[in-house]
Formats: sequence, C-alpha cells, structure tokens
Amino acid sequence: MLDAIESLPRQREAFRADVLTGLSQPQKTIPCRWFYDRRGSELFEEITGLDEYYPTRTETAILRRHAGDMAALCGDGVVLLEYGAGAGIKFEILVDALRAPRMYVPIDIAADFLDQTVARIRQRFPLLVTRPIVADFTTGFDMPADIPAGRRAAFFPGSTIGNLDRAEAAALLRRMCGHVGRQGKAIIGVDLRKDIRTLIAAYDDGDGVTAAFNLNLLARVNRELEGNFAVECFAHEARWNERESAIEMHLVSRKRQVVSVAGRSFAFAEGETIHTESSRKYDIRGFTEVARHAGWCVVAVWSDPADRFAVFGLDRET
Ligand code: AVJ
Repeated sequence: MLDAIESLPRQREAFRADVLTGLSQPQKTIPCRWFYDRRGSELFEEITGLDEYYPTRTETAILRRHAGDMAALCGDGVVLLEYGAGAGIKFEILVDALRAPRMYVPIDIAADFLDQTVARIRQRFPLLVTRPIVADFTTGFDMPADIPAGRRAAFFPGSTIGNLDRAEAAALLRRMCGHVGRQGKAIIGVDLRKDIRTLIAAYDDGDGVTAAFNLNLLARVNRELEGNFAVECFAHEARWNERESAIEMHLVSRKRQVVSVAGRSFAFAEGETIHTESSRKYDIRGFTEVARHAGWCVVAVWSDPADRFAVFGLDRET
C-alpha cells in the first residue's frame, strides 16, 4: 500500500513534534491519537471485550438492532466513509444491511493495522470495492479523486468523537459535510453521560488492560523517538472532569525523575502527570446542538434501553 509507506516518515515527524511540544507544557500532554501503534491497537481491541468497558458492546447491539434503519438513511449505492476504521468490526455489522454499497472507504492513521483490516474485508466481501485512506482525519485530508462523487455517508462509530473537544468535534462534523456533499448523511456513535463510578471503571479495569494501553504510549516514545522512560516509574490514572464532562487518562510520575526524548530532557515532579486522553460524554441534547452548529440535522437517535450510548443519524437537509 503506497499511501502507508509514503506517510510513515511524515507520521514519525508529527509524533516527535507532538511529544516534544506536549512535554514542554505546564500540564504535560501527549495526544491520544498516538496510542494506536500495532501494540496499542491490539490492546484497544482487548479493552473492547472487557466487562467494565460497556461502550463497544452497547454500540454493537444498537448497530445490529437498527442496521436496517441506518442503511435506509444511507440509501442505495452509498459510498461509505469510515473515520478511524480500526479493525472495521462496526462496518461489518452494517454492511449486510446496506443496499448495493458502491464503495467502502476506511480511513485510519494506523497504516499497518489498516492493511490487515482491508485484507480481511476484501476477503469477506469480495464484491465490495474497498479503498483505504491512511490519514489523520482530525487534521483534515484531501479526498482522493477516485472516490465516486455519488451518494456518500460518513460513518464514525466508537465514540471516537468524544476524544475531541466541542470546537474540534464541530470542526470535524463540518469537514464531514465537505466530504459527503450536499445530500450527504452521517452516522455517529456517541457515549452518553452516566454515573461516574461506571465511567471510571470503564477506563480503569480490574485486569489492567487500560493501564497497559496507556503505558504503551511511553514504550512507543522509547522505541520511535529514542526516549528513555522507565515505564514502571509511571502509573495509570483515570479521572472525571466535570467541567469538560470527560473522563481523562493520565500517566502519573511515581517519583521525581528526568526523562530524555529525542535528545531533550524533561523533568517530572513526584505525582506530576502526562494527560494522555479526554473522552467526552454527551447528553442527547448537547450533541444535537454541536451537530446543528456544524450544519447537520439530527434525523434519528438510536440508543440502548439504559441510554448508555447513542448512535445519531444525521442529514444535511430535512
Ligand atoms: C476509542 C476513543 C472511543 O475513549 O473510550 C478506551 C479509547 N481509551 N479506553 C474511549 C479508550 C481508554 C476510546 N475511544
């Protein structure tokens, strides 16, 4: 896959810039998109199967139950653009319900993981045209000219939109308008606000898989950016930020220490943290507002009986 090979050096450079900038700030931070190297993607897949991590199974059940309605929203011969496709599992739930889909376009930053996904999808659905794009959809990318202009729909499951703040979420939804055109549709998975204990448990599971997922970021920095993090000198923490309505993940320095990355030194006080992820939780009204500001009408809200998770059907026009 030429796309993937060409984008690797640029991605490494972007990773370096993000880490050096992030570690230089008063609240140290590393953007969560860098979790997903091969190991990180594997660990995330493992998280999705944990008892405590309710979002994946809840959304999966919603997709299964309402696939027909979602397919009806997309219409005949749709070009389905999936943002952050990962293993493509969610798409597989929808695909059988779709009416003569014209093309499946998985978009993901993890090039090698995307390769595997595409190989599997092509094998399982040989008649479907699958056309991957390696890109970081949070910063925008050019739609390749070979993607048909017809009926398009944006598919963004998994509550990945929760990683963005309100302004970024609105900007992405607006960019999706451009990607799908005037008659475009969108199907967006959004995790909902709920009691804080349930939320914390989902991001700090008993088996320590989420901890390993968070800490893997330091191992990745060591490997790819000549870092010397002593991974065992950092601890995983999940906390609720009420003002942002978000679960935050942090890596807490267990002691005073100095770490070097790409030839630069960074000092940590004991208890100082690197903020690695915010996962925002919406209510239905709040997300409807964000979507409206970004040029979309909410035409459907599919959720589970306990209202833990919602899948929004969006239309450019009503
Ligand atoms: C993939 C962004 C939806 O925020 O729940 C899972 C990532 N982080 N456990 C989420 C994640 C820790 C996940 N998203």
